[in-house]
Amino acid sequence: MEQITWTEDFSVGIARIDEQHKRLIQMINRLIAEPQTTTKSETVSDLLNDMTNYAFEHFATEEELMREHNYPHLEEHVAQHRAFRKKTVDFCSATMLDVEAVPETMLYYLRDWLVEHILKSDMAFKPFFREQMVD
Ligand SMILES: [Fe+2]
Repeated sequence: MEQITWTEDFSVGIARIDEQHKRLIQMINRLIAEPQTTTKSETVSDLLNDMTNYAFEHFATEEELMREHNYPHLEEHVAQHRAFRKKTVDFCSATMLDVEAVPETMLYYLRDWLVEHILKSDMAFKPFFREQMVD
């Protein structure tokens, strides 16, 4: 499965959000590259959990910024984050105990959701925050 490559097309013009997106992409790429990584100290569910926890932190950063500036599409945006959260939490709790590899359908979901979300929904707030002089 092809990994995600961060290019300038992914930049939303806010440094800390871009950095978080890059880190999230790295984490998902690692799952794509090594869906079966299991060592004594690090299991697939650890990787998946770290990624989802990081994603939740990142969503909180975005949502806080949107609230602070009264972003008009906050509700729709939060609903998308919520859908991702539900899907990953359900998945983690369903498979956490014995998962030896992240199923391909889940990898596709993570990758495609993130790419589509950044390029469409996050990109939609770029001009708004630019006008508010957030960088
Ligand atoms: Fe977002």
